[in-house]
Amino acid sequence: MKSIKDAPIQIGTRVFVAADLDVPIENGVIKETYRLEGLLPTTKFIVEKGGIPIFGGHMGSPHGKVDDILSTRHLKSFFDTQLGTSGYVLLENLRFDIREENNDEQYARELADKADIYVNENFSTSHRRHASIAQLPKILPAFAGFRLESEIQHLTKILDSPEKPFVVVIGGAKLESKKPTVSKFIQLADYVLIGGKIGLDWTDEIPQNLILPLDYAENQLDIGPETVRKYVDIISTAKTVLWAGPMGFYEKDKYLLGTKSIAEAITGNPNCFSLIGGGDTVAAANRVGLLEKFSFVSTGGGSMLEFLVKKTLPGIEALG
Ligand code: 3PG
Repeated sequence: MKSIKDAPIQIGTRVFVAADLDVPIENGVIKETYRLEGLLPTTKFIVEKGGIPIFGGHMGSPHGKVDDILSTRHLKSFFDTQLGTSGYVLLENLRFDIREENNDEQYARELADKADIYVNENFSTSHRRHASIAQLPKILPAFAGFRLESEIQHLTKILDSPEKPFVVVIGGAKLESKKPTVSKFIQLADYVLIGGKIGLDWTDEIPQNLILPLDYAENQLDIGPETVRKYVDIISTAKTVLWAGPMGFYEKDKYLLGTKSIAEAITGNPNCFSLIGGGDTVAAANRVGLLEKFSFVSTGGGSMLEFLVKKTLPGIEALG
């Protein structure tokens, strides 16, 4: 995998940036810019060398249908302000064309015609075998962006050499999608703490280092006080914490306490390297005002979980 810093970018080089544009929009206003900010170091590097970034990415899942709410035009003001130049191209939502999701080779060729080289700066979509992720980098000279490299480096470190005690906190709702990650970390971590709905749905055997909630709060929509106490104690001893998935229905104040307590315990532990990821976890950490305090915030959700299990992704493999 070659780094963008070794890419032959000169004045006028057109660089297709497979870009993480999938940010929440409300009434045409961007609600969370974290992913877009992740594009800036690579973009500025291209612009400084005189290259022209051509951003191609998706918003939402329009499955081949044009939907103005998901138009990338809503992102233009962000790039205009951040880059201070109009020397870039922002392609329309690639998923407005069904051939993107179908990993269509002809579509990838049409995208390739717009650029001279390719850079992947879309970690959060790199688990998808889609044309701009898995096909296009086989056609153009392909490079990894700075953010993608940083994601790979931090997640690999968590897998290969986490400082111990290593505590993994997994919550959220979709047990099936989290199970491979839980199984993997039962092998690697000192403790795997389970919260959210997946705690209720867990029916498999319970190894010694897997801790399920001891109690729940109202309507089982949050973990209970005994569980919070136990999890906070364990987290306070950790040197490394990985957190993916909220402890309850954090969007409502009355079910926020479990998630808030976990966020406070992790960020309040001064000796701990903390890594979080996933749209809900990032939104929850933001909601309690602690996002900034985590050591590394992955832009990935599903892609982060898949990388942690497989140590690679289709979009990373396609870079060679
Ligand atoms: C994400 O939001 O995790 C990425 O943009 C991937 O989106 P997808 O799940 O719609 O493929």
